[in-house]
Amino acid sequence: MIHDSYQRPLRDLRISVTDRCNFRCTYCMPEEIFGKDYPFLPREEILSFEEIERTVRLLVPLGVKKIRISGGEPLLRKDIPTLIQSLSRIEGIEDIALTTNGTMLKRLSKDLKEAGLQRVNVSLDTLDDRVFHRLNSRHHSVRDVLEGIEAAASEGIQVKVNMVVQKGVNDQDILPMARHFRDTDHILRFIEFMDVGNYNEWNMEKVITKQEILDLIHKEMPLEPADPRYFGEVASRFTYKGTDKEIGIISSVTDTFCGSCTRARLSANGQMYTCLFATGGHDIKRLLRSDATDLEVKEHIASIWNGRTDRYSEERGGGDRKNGKRRKKIEMSYIGG
Ligand code: GTP
Ligand code: 5AD
Ligand code: SF4
Ligand code: SF4
Repeated sequence: MIHDSYQRPLRDLRISVTDRCNFRCTYCMPEEIFGKDYPFLPREEILSFEEIERTVRLLVPLGVKKIRISGGEPLLRKDIPTLIQSLSRIEGIEDIALTTNGTMLKRLSKDLKEAGLQRVNVSLDTLDDRVFHRLNSRHHSVRDVLEGIEAAASEGIQVKVNMVVQKGVNDQDILPMARHFRDTDHILRFIEFMDVGNYNEWNMEKVITKQEILDLIHKEMPLEPADPRYFGEVASRFTYKGTDKEIGIISSVTDTFCGSCTRARLSANGQMYTCLFATGGHDIKRLLRSDATDLEVKEHIASIWNGRTDRYSEERGGGDRKNGKRRKKIEMSYIGG
């Protein structure tokens, strides 16, 4: 096991397998920027499944137990169940999950489940197609996502639903979403709109805070706090009073959870990032494609983690985002959230 400069262990690896997506969420890949001519990563730059698997194998002895596959939209990558299967066979990996927009779950859930996928987190910001078309995709509908969710659930894959909440955009959907998912087995999580990337024109006025979300729901459907399920869980959990139905709130803006952040991120082109808000990564691909031995690769990654000092959300401080605005950050679609 290794620790960084603040004694945080390395436990989770979030792997982005593609920087492409079939959605154009305004807060992540706005159409004006991510248009026809956008320079997505060329194929040869993208890590192969073998390279990803090797990296994960080398990270297990350093402490990694939990893998999340993300994108862009990870299900756009060909044969993704094959990757899941090879990762789920690695001894020491206890949890494999995937973050997706859900549109391809209908087609792929069966293969994903057979490959060993236990959980998916599906992004859904509204139940209203008018909002969905504006905010997420002109070419899909809410129904595509809901059907994807049901397809995954019926295969026995545990589903969480992620709703990014933006004031004046989809805050009117908080209650309908809560009501809808309260009657299902899927855990709905509200995410405070974050200042990730460089194009989503973030500002504090667009954030609906955790407290505001809680107050709104609590008035209609009383809630009580529940304990975290695991150390360093980013979502705070609440149950509807008198039931075991829960919701989560990811207060990435009004709270900080850097103190227990055990996550490393690997981009599709093999750069390792030690923070979601990092300005630069560490080139692992070059090493993987050199004649470096397993030991050398492992030691290099260990030294990256040992030197880690990131604690962006603690440093940016409540409301003062000057620092956050000025720095050139990586895109969410590239690092996978
Ligand atoms: P599980 O609890 O394992 O289901 O997953 P998760 O909540 O870590 O994963 P998911 O991909 O669903 O993440 C939801 C959102 O939480 C991310 O997109 C981010 O918005 C936020 N988040 C996750 N990890 C971090 C982090 O390290 N820092 C910050 N600031 N936000 C994070
Ligand atoms: N703020 C908060 N969450 C975001 N996501 C993407 N961009 C942002 C942002 N600016 C969410 C996606 C997905 C998860 C991986 O991150 O909706 O659920
Ligand atoms: Fe695609 Fe997810 Fe980004 Fe939306 S938030 S554009 S679904 S990667
Ligand atoms: Fe971890 Fe960086 Fe998020 Fe803090 S801001 S919790 S260090 S990813």
